[in-house]
Amino acid sequence: MEIIKQVHAIRERVQALRCSGKTIGLVPTMGALHQGHLQLLKASAQENDITVCSIFVNPTQFNNPDDYKLYPRTLGEDTALLEQVSCNILFAPDPEEVYPQQHTLLQFSFGALEAVMEGAHRPGHFNGVATIVSKLFHLVQPHRAYFGQKDLQQVAIVRQLVQSLSFDVKLVCFPTVREEDGLAMSSRNKRLDAAQRRAAPHLYMALKKAEAQLQQRPVAAIKAGVAAYLGQVGGVELEYFEVADPATLQPVADVRGVREVALCLAAVVGPVRLIDNILVNLNG
Ligand code: PAJ
Repeated sequence: MEIIKQVHAIRERVQALRCSGKTIGLVPTMGALHQGHLQLLKASAQENDITVCSIFVNPTQFNNPDDYKLYPRTLGEDTALLEQVSCNILFAPDPEEVYPQQHTLLQFSFGALEAVMEGAHRPGHFNGVATIVSKLFHLVQPHRAYFGQKDLQQVAIVRQLVQSLSFDVKLVCFPTVREEDGLAMSSRNKRLDAAQRRAAPHLYMALKKAEAQLQQRPVAAIKAGVAAYLGQVGGVELEYFEVADPATLQPVADVRGVREVALCLAAVVGPVRLIDNILVNLNG
């Protein structure tokens, strides 16, 4: 696997690959790789001639300085994992390489899409995501780019970004990979101590309880039920729970006549803020 750290070098490398007719798959990540990431990398390796993984803890998408500072950085282990899944190129730039000193941060606007959930609770977050994803799409020029449903709203934002800026890339989305106890895999899980790790699967359990009641109780009662359930779990502080339209992410107040909803939540567990969601088909 080639490791490239410089912007000019990745640009030159992918231009040569494109000229020789190779298809390129991009898996953008912030590292501390786990099975959720590896699933995306394996799919890319199957569907493209060349797979590029980017590892970059993107400062502009963190609205909490401690979260940025303490985000796990495990480049050595990540490199070994990437070799195992036949990744061809690791693009791992330093922050100064991506954001030269005098840069002015671009401002994106995603309207209603960013007015809810992660957009509402993490000001500037999706602006930073849109900035880095745009840069990566320009630098790597992928034919396909791979994202996880774990960050459902991020997928919707990137989809709108691709449309708005006419990026010539196909977005591919994969389901959330979970630990055996249901906890959604996340790089931030590495920061949980044993007691916090035992509490964290209750986020998924809360989503499953809500799913089971979706057609029997009004949405307001389900929301109250999730808050009460997680309120009883020590060390978990619910930030939001929403019943949302999976495409627009807008709140659904009444599920009658609705085909599919996304149940989404964010909660603080010990030192970290975790998110999770499930899609629920109401016809089946
Ligand atoms: P990161 O959190 O490292 O995630 C990289 C990709 O892996 C994202 O598309 C995310 O949705 C996916 N992913 C993470 N955990 C997953 C899981 N348990 N199952 C399935 N997919 C999972 O998301 C980011 O980085 C950044 O915002 C990024 C897009 C790289 C921009 O900086």
